[in-house]
Amino acid sequence: MNKKEILEAYQFRHACKEFDVNRIIPQEDIEFILETARLSPSSFGFEPWHFIVVQDKNLREQLKENAWGATKKLDTASHYVIGLTMKSPLTKWDSAYILDFMKNVQKLPEEVVKGKGKFYEDFQKTDFDLSDDRKLFDWASKQSYIALGNMMTAAAMIGIDSCPIEGFNQATTDVILREKLGVDTEQFGISYMVAFGYRVVEPKEKTRRTLDEIVTWK
Ligand SMILES: Cc1cc2nc3c(=O)[nH]c(=O)nc-3n(C[C@H](O)[C@H](O)[C@H](O)COP(=O)(O)O)c2cc1C
Repeated sequence: MNKKEILEAYQFRHACKEFDVNRIIPQEDIEFILETARLSPSSFGFEPWHFIVVQDKNLREQLKENAWGATKKLDTASHYVIGLTMKSPLTKWDSAYILDFMKNVQKLPEEVVKGKGKFYEDFQKTDFDLSDDRKLFDWASKQSYIALGNMMTAAAMIGIDSCPIEGFNQATTDVILREKLGVDTEQFGISYMVAFGYRVVEPKEKTRRTLDEIVTWK
């Protein structure tokens, strides 16, 4: 894609309110979108995320009750993704997950595991003051949102619409995650939902401040 085409994809992407129920995203395309989440960057490369694709109608109905921002999207989206983020039992510097991740996913040698582990400890204790569970979750959540952005942009690049959703009650949605979706909510929390599909109406023109207003050059 050239620059013009890339920017056209950014213009094409909008928060789509209602999708065409008759159009289903091909499996290959939704996997392509999820692959861009998988390849997203994360702090220290620890990938503090998980994605649930909710296609079951009953589950979507239940989510709807607690998700005012998802009206119409849950009924009409071709694919509906819940973005989960790891909580402190997994992301804290001394967790078994982090140790295992460095050894078995990142395949770091023993001495590098020690060094990186110490950096991660200092980062959490001092640099970013991630001293309580909520701070740690919010920090990890920020990384999950990078995956969200990438998925929406990738979707737009292949002509697929999306809508990011934070319009839901975290506590009541947590209950559904736990009881209906088998999520261990001690270990994972919900950051966002995102709907994918094909628009039924054209969006309103985009409003944005100018580059001059949001960028300072020094
Ligand atoms: C983190 C986040 C949460 C959002 N939550 C909702 C939501 O619950 N429901 C909704 O319809 N739109 C939601 N939006 C869409 C925004 O309202 C929309 O992106 C913004 O108004 C800019 O419009 P555009 O995306 O069409 O350019 C959300 C956007 C973001 C980034």
